[in-house]
Amino acid sequence: MHTKALLTALLAPAAVSAQLNSLAVAAGLKYFGTAVGESAVSSDSAYMAIVNNKNELGQVVAENGQKWDATEPSRGSFSYTQGDIVPKVAKANGQYLRCHTLVWYSQLPSWVSSGSWTRATLQSVIETHISNVMGHYIGQCYAWDVVNEAIADDGTWRDSVFYKTFGTDYLALAFNAAKKADANTKLLVAYYNDYNLEYNGAKTDRAVELVGIVQKAGAPIDGVGFQAHLIVGSTPSRSSLTTVLKRFTALNVEVAYTELDIRHSSLPASASALVTQGNDFANVVGSCVDTTGCVGVTVWGFTDKYSWVPNTFSGAGDALIYDKNLVKKAAWTSISSVLAAKATKPATTLITSTVTPTVTASTTAAAITSTSSTSTSTSSAAAATTSAATGAEQAHWAQCGGIGWTGATKCQSPWTCKVSNPYYSQCL
Ligand code: G3I
Repeated sequence: MHTKALLTALLAPAAVSAQLNSLAVAAGLKYFGTAVGESAVSSDSAYMAIVNNKNELGQVVAENGQKWDATEPSRGSFSYTQGDIVPKVAKANGQYLRCHTLVWYSQLPSWVSSGSWTRATLQSVIETHISNVMGHYIGQCYAWDVVNEAIADDGTWRDSVFYKTFGTDYLALAFNAAKKADANTKLLVAYYNDYNLEYNGAKTDRAVELVGIVQKAGAPIDGVGFQAHLIVGSTPSRSSLTTVLKRFTALNVEVAYTELDIRHSSLPASASALVTQGNDFANVVGSCVDTTGCVGVTVWGFTDKYSWVPNTFSGAGDALIYDKNLVKKAAWTSISSVLAAKATKPATTLITSTVTPTVTASTTAAAITSTSSTSTSTSSAAAATTSAATGAEQAHWAQCGGIGWTGATKCQSPWTCKVSNPYYSQCL
């Protein structure tokens, strides 16, 4: 089949524009999504224009609004003012909603963390919280992070109020409470969610144990979320990440990257650091498309304009795929290339792909080269561009072509329009 015809057959109707969720779905994932900061929803229309573009972002998650301190700030008193903001966005746009989170040691009101509990009283508190909050969102959440970050950085059990009171028994207790709250719809995908599982170390081993503990107790656990708060240059390889994901899918749970960001340790990032960041993102997303049972990738915010990173890691940042001006970065392009490479392979060869498009410092910060023998053709991309060719010129880094692109195809001097993949050309 001619390349262009093949692309059309594989991607229509998703490929109305060269955007990440459309590509992710074409590559076999459920979604490419983002966390959404509640305050930006009403204050930043340019930010929301990207959030509301389902071709770009097919899934959203509330960055803070559904956490315990927001939903049950005092015992038995429930509030959903903050928590409802992002679910409303998901509903309006027809996007998947991940819900985050029910049992977590952080953003936990002091009436819980500093309370004096017996097993019976804390069990009642957990069950009441889960049944009320899940009940409020019933039918809206594709998945809930039922338990978050139960393991400390060194792989020991985190010494939270929950662990102090129950040992590990609170894990099954929480998953059983979630099952009970969802008894009528049975739609929920119940996740354990944590960071630093990506390195296949002691913390990863403990998470494997955790899944076993919950399963042996007969409680339903359906997924493990890899937060993937990673560091430029220290991100594991695509094959290492795939190995880790497969440790969990072998336990009969699905997996997802749930909070992906890859921070520069110091700023401003050099051109070569941007290249490395692009390759790191490609490796993470590539490992998901390489793993049957990896359902999607969620970035923890999509723009460097808003991110938790600089508040926590002084001097670090720029961990996301759009810059502070909402312009796509090299990392965006590298992700789109990985997804496009998978999406455009004939169905019979999809499963065998292990190709990671790489960004090379010797070219430009965002020029992608693929080692795939069946990599997408630049000529088909150029042919598929349907630009109105208005005479307008795009700025450095901006999109200037690709399937479905109807904007300007010329770049401001000294930049030229370079094809990254069939869906995306960029002024570089
Ligand atoms: O809402 C208050 C505001 O009223 C106040 O004026 C302001 C002053 O600092 O604080 C605001 O609350 C902040 C909140 O974010 C909302 O912006 C908190 O201080 C701040 O601690 C909180 O940070 C969040 C952090 O979780 C807390 O642990 C980040 O936004 C959020 O991105 C981050 O997300 C976590 C995931 O839930 C779990 N995995 C790790 C990830 C990163 O830490």
